[in-house]
Amino acid sequence: MNEKTSTARAHTNIALMKYWGKKDAALNLPTTSSLSLTLKEFYTDTMVTEGREDTLLINNLMQDPTRVHKFLDFLRAEKGDFPPLTVVSKNVVPTSAGLASSASSFAALTAAVAHYNDWDLSLEELSRLARRGSGSATRSFFPGFAVWHEGHDDQSSFAESLPESTMPIALVVCEVAKTTKKVSSSDGMQRAMTSPDYEAWVAKSHEQFDVMQAALAANDLETVGAIAEENALAMHALNMSATDRRFTYFSQMTIDIIAFVKELRKQGFLAYATIDAGPNVKIITRQDQAEEIKEKALASFRKLKVEIATPGPGLSYIEENDFAD
Ligand code: DP6
Repeated sequence: MNEKTSTARAHTNIALMKYWGKKDAALNLPTTSSLSLTLKEFYTDTMVTEGREDTLLINNLMQDPTRVHKFLDFLRAEKGDFPPLTVVSKNVVPTSAGLASSASSFAALTAAVAHYNDWDLSLEELSRLARRGSGSATRSFFPGFAVWHEGHDDQSSFAESLPESTMPIALVVCEVAKTTKKVSSSDGMQRAMTSPDYEAWVAKSHEQFDVMQAALAANDLETVGAIAEENALAMHALNMSATDRRFTYFSQMTIDIIAFVKELRKQGFLAYATIDAGPNVKIITRQDQAEEIKEKALASFRKLKVEIATPGPGLSYIEENDFAD
């Protein structure tokens, strides 16, 4: 038995401009470019080693390896054969904040496999490969703010880092529910694309993209937050107006927190909401206001779990001893 192992750590990212639709489902090409913030506090460690067949353990529990096996077979076909792998993954999330882990998971897996096979690949190339596992994983290789360029074919669709920023951004992550999402992102975005408003959302997103990038360069957090909220709420409106099985990820508490964020703004806070494929709300704010907003959220909502997240680092390779426990 070959004992060679390889371990990588990738942090979660939250999109400030969402990926919500595929123009090519087989290649996982998105309809829009997206822009994200990598978070320090949430990450995935993934270790690969040779096994009898491709298997997957997450947080010490055996998982259905179908999706990972399919992705590993894609890597074999694309980059050259390698033996079956045992994939051991650990998601580090302070209170299980209900954050999507497919982004950090597929980024860490892609990097661990590349390292295991001594493939010498740039971060952009790793990002391009990870796209086939999960779109949002493209952005989890990079520190701080990253952009996933939608591209027009398999080669041109990958993410890269934006220039380093000193913007004092924080996310107040409000965990409404821990339940796994009832509608997967892939299914949800496919339904959203049947909304009569879908083309308008794509066109608007293209416009917002330039404004958001300029705001980032100018350290204008107010505009970054405002666009992020507008982009996210419009994405969720598509789900509700889909002509194929319309749906929503919102729960009553999601709606109440959106109202709470609006109230915070009235009180003079910098606060904007963003929401992904689930009911949890991330409040975009300034680092020096995050703690107060957290206290207010805890006081306003019973049973809410709240974590503060800040900009995080890009991909790293770690020693077995440093594997999260
Ligand atoms: C709402 O990356 O999970 O978080 O490519 O089908 O695996 P697949 O989708 P996924 O979608 C993420 C959607 C989102 C927005 C975003 O992260 O940009």
